[in-house]
Amino acid sequence: MPRTLFVTTALPYANGPFHIGHIMEYIQADVWVRFQRMQGCKVHFMGADDAHGAPIMLRAETHGVTPEELVRKVGESHQRDYQRFLLSFDNWYTTHSEENRELSHSIYGRLKDAGLIYAKSIEQFFDPVKSMFLPDRYIKGECPKCGAKDQYGDACEVCGSTYAATELKNPYSVLTGAKPELRTSEHLFFRLSDPKVVKFLRRWTTQTPLQPEVKNKIAEWLGGSGDAKLADWDISRDAPYFGFEIPDAPGKYFYVWLDAPIGYLASLKNYFDTGKAQTNGETRSFEEFIAPSSEVEQYHFIGKDIIYHHTLFWPAMLEFAQRKLPTNVYVHGFITVSGEKMSKSRGTGISPQRYLEVGMNPEWLRYYIAAKLNDKVEDIDFNPDDFVARVNSDLIGKYVNIASRAAGFLEKHFDGKLCETTLGSTYQGRSSIGEYRHIPIEDAIRYGESIRLFYDRRQFGMALRLIMELADKINAFWDNAKPWELSKRFDSPINPTDNQWLHQVASTTIEWFRLTTLFLKPVLPDVAQKVEKFLRLDHALAWVDVSHHLPAGHKIDSYVHLLSRIDPKQIDALFEAPTTIASPSPPPLARRERGDSSGFAGASDREEKESGAGAPQLPLTPSPSPASRRGGKESGASAPQISIDDFSKVDLRIARIVNAEHVDGADKLLKLTLDIGDGRTRTVFAGIKSAYRPEELIGRLTPMVANLTPRKMKFGLSEGMVLAASGDGPGIFLLAPDSGAQPGMRVK
Ligand code: MSP
Ligand code: ZN
Repeated sequence: MPRTLFVTTALPYANGPFHIGHIMEYIQADVWVRFQRMQGCKVHFMGADDAHGAPIMLRAETHGVTPEELVRKVGESHQRDYQRFLLSFDNWYTTHSEENRELSHSIYGRLKDAGLIYAKSIEQFFDPVKSMFLPDRYIKGECPKCGAKDQYGDACEVCGSTYAATELKNPYSVLTGAKPELRTSEHLFFRLSDPKVVKFLRRWTTQTPLQPEVKNKIAEWLGGSGDAKLADWDISRDAPYFGFEIPDAPGKYFYVWLDAPIGYLASLKNYFDTGKAQTNGETRSFEEFIAPSSEVEQYHFIGKDIIYHHTLFWPAMLEFAQRKLPTNVYVHGFITVSGEKMSKSRGTGISPQRYLEVGMNPEWLRYYIAAKLNDKVEDIDFNPDDFVARVNSDLIGKYVNIASRAAGFLEKHFDGKLCETTLGSTYQGRSSIGEYRHIPIEDAIRYGESIRLFYDRRQFGMALRLIMELADKINAFWDNAKPWELSKRFDSPINPTDNQWLHQVASTTIEWFRLTTLFLKPVLPDVAQKVEKFLRLDHALAWVDVSHHLPAGHKIDSYVHLLSRIDPKQIDALFEAPTTIASPSPPPLARRERGDSSGFAGASDREEKESGAGAPQLPLTPSPSPASRRGGKESGASAPQISIDDFSKVDLRIARIVNAEHVDGADKLLKLTLDIGDGRTRTVFAGIKSAYRPEELIGRLTPMVANLTPRKMKFGLSEGMVLAASGDGPGIFLLAPDSGAQPGMRVK
């Protein structure tokens, strides 16, 4: 009986396109999934969008669309992009679905029946203008410890301390600028502190072969054997909220993190209901498939910031709803770019969309990321120079070259047909050119077994290192045998056996190339497919083919182009100002990275993480500032006429200048930090230094162009423009709205 695996990756928030962190996670899972399929497992690989939560609701509002419309749009971009990166999800769905609603109701009902749900009144900040309770992420104020201004409601980015939002001094709502009021509201809680839950979690987390780093973290959270430190979990939110209304609590909604993991099951159910599971060879029903007793293995790939949710909340929910438990949760670290933490709002990181737009090959990235991955919770770095060097030297220099060299001679002299190759059975040979040593046949088996184990344990870096070691051997074998010399004298060989040796060397090399391709196939699925065709294999390469070989007389096609090298110019294009900014960046990265020295997020709610604006940017063409374009001179009406539609493409917003500072080495610029109430700040370099001192700007309101394509400047990324008047004479005059305007208001 082949094993059956149900595999998921974390469900990305449907508030923006994929960022490089998402792609890294999917590559990790996809390589593993493809490998498992190759070794004969039945795999059902599920993805979905995480559609709910206040930030998505607010984001939709800002864009004047319904949340449904926003998540549908973003969902389309996700589906297009995962395919473009050759990610082999068998289904992609959304948490905003009937399947998920039903499953969430049913799981909640069971938890309630188990006596694990209770109601409690809590005090929370409420925005009287917006009429909604504010997640911590939407409250700012002065740090209670150091007094720094404009700090978020959970942690201070200046002094690093963490606190409750209610401790902030002079708090204000990021959404409206209003002073939030404390209000009481009844919330529903999941009793994680219940002894039976704690007992279960202790057992499950001990028995499950989680990574050691993950186990340590959990041990901290669960405490010793005595009292557990687990806090009960607030699973409800008040309207307005985009989510599922709680069946027996009108006006209350499930907190996004309650129905998000249930979305794994909803995607699976949709996969069964639409007949895809059956097409993929599954004969069980959905209920049989995920029955607690089923032999299906369930794996979740996630990043280190959501361990708490997947190793405590999720198993507890499943256990007390009498459902099947995960077999394991595989945690990866974060990807950085040139050592910098990814921050989309600040324009670092790599946009996966841009990567494809500039014509870069997804298999390069798959290879590079796989080569960096291991089974630890370690961060990995994308380094552009290293990327180019590694891909070009390994994939082109070592791997692809093997085939182009050998196939040429086969075609030229032997009608593309292989001779008997038993991969090194004739261990040593001698032609008129010299001696050569085959790579022993046992090496195929030996390498195959080690590589198999490394893939299985997610030690992809080790697997690829071994594969490249093998490629080195094959190249050395070739160089040593000097077939090109034999080829030159093909029509008048020195030794009668020379042509035979040539045939042997080329055929054997093709055999080794077939094996190398097999080993690389989980990482390079497209290349492998081209090779299968070029070698005229009668079936797709699978792991059992390690111990097979091509028969004498097997004919291959002429060499086809498999993969190009990276042109470093493409890297320059990749790092130029992006045409789109990937999804929002959560300023509380700080919380994740700092609050906890291990870099793992703790028990904190992560609702804030889904927040942020990073609105899908309108791809306006980057334009120089009006002043520079027109030389600041033409004060008459010189610009061509535009329509109202042209004008409305410009998203003008009221911004609060939360910080202004001098820029080292810049004579004209001030660096402004602007807040337009969408949960993140933007940096703008403005040429107003001659007219303003930074101190006098802080706190002021001014209109800004919020959808200007970010522009990379010498001093950093500029993410918009502020508006100022100037004439023929000296002086620059920043615009200001009348009093009463609030950050985020649209100017039209
Ligand atoms: N919606 C939740 C997950 C719900 S799962 C039931 C969420 N979404 S997310 O879009 O913020 O993150 C999705 C995944 O991307 C998470 O596993 C997260 O750890 C991962 N990554 C986000 N940034 C990352 C990096 N910089 N590097 C690698 N992975 C990162 O959390
Ligand atoms: Zn502080």
